[in-house]
Amino acid sequence: MSNNKYITAFAPASIGNVAVGFDMLGLAIDGVGDRVSARKTEAQGVLIKEIYDHNGQPHQDLSREADKNTASISANALWESRGIECGIELIIHKGIPLQSGMGSSAASAVAGVVAVNALLDEPLEKSKLLSFALKGEEYASGGVHADNVAPSLIGGLVFCPLNMLPEILSIEVPENLSSVLIHPNLFVNTAESRLSLKANYSLSDMLQQQSYLAGFLLGVKENNLSLIKGNLKDIIVEPQRSSAVPCFDKMKKVAIQNGAFGCSLSGSGPSIFAICESKDAMHIESVMMETCKKEGYDCQSWVSKLNSPGAYVESN
Ligand code: HSE
Repeated sequence: MSNNKYITAFAPASIGNVAVGFDMLGLAIDGVGDRVSARKTEAQGVLIKEIYDHNGQPHQDLSREADKNTASISANALWESRGIECGIELIIHKGIPLQSGMGSSAASAVAGVVAVNALLDEPLEKSKLLSFALKGEEYASGGVHADNVAPSLIGGLVFCPLNMLPEILSIEVPENLSSVLIHPNLFVNTAESRLSLKANYSLSDMLQQQSYLAGFLLGVKENNLSLIKGNLKDIIVEPQRSSAVPCFDKMKKVAIQNGAFGCSLSGSGPSIFAICESKDAMHIESVMMETCKKEGYDCQSWVSKLNSPGAYVESN
């Protein structure tokens, strides 16, 4: 084999749903993500050599079996599709907490395919990697939704409804807006959370939510802050999930009182995000964290511009 050096890719965490677009809208965040290092091996198939946690210690909670990890499932799907003779070995570095609502499984899947793609003699365009990354995400969350995988792959705010896949649409965002993401020290299993959602909804609620999605997207397109503020709402899913995050109501209230345009669960939670003008972001981050801690939950936080970058290869 001519070259069996490791190539490392980074994929960022993400906010699924962005309140208004369940399963169809996602936002990349900055400064936290997963890394996957990949190299070719003589053996066939995909092997996970090790998984490390954010402290660089062997991860205690994730299986090393290649068919039980989103990075290796996705990497394997890409590798098999190319029909290459040799195998691959992966080292996974988890920077995103598990069951945090920050797109942890999606980021591993994306970093896996981006690293393995870089091993190919003729790498695919980034947009062609989505369907491989979705295989891992489907394993983890028990359903097909691209609202974490898509922003983690291409960055920024992404429209990715199921009926359009594998096509996705990157939405241009105003320069002056930021997201604030707070991760309370709690765990929510996305697959279980999805299973417990109601199956039927009233027509009036569906119409209301549709108008919120349209109004929010138009507000983003036109940089119309009052349209964004009036429409960044979820009346369908958030009310069913917020009781799993006891600090949610107070954190949302304090975010809005301090100028956030909207605040909701990130994906299935427990993480909570707000969108605001960038000039207000650090203050909103600080009051949300203070409230979270007062409610008895330690937390971590990140502030990102709405156009944060997607996955990239770090080293060759
Ligand atoms: N759209 C998904 C959900 C995102 O809300 O279940 C999970 O991170």
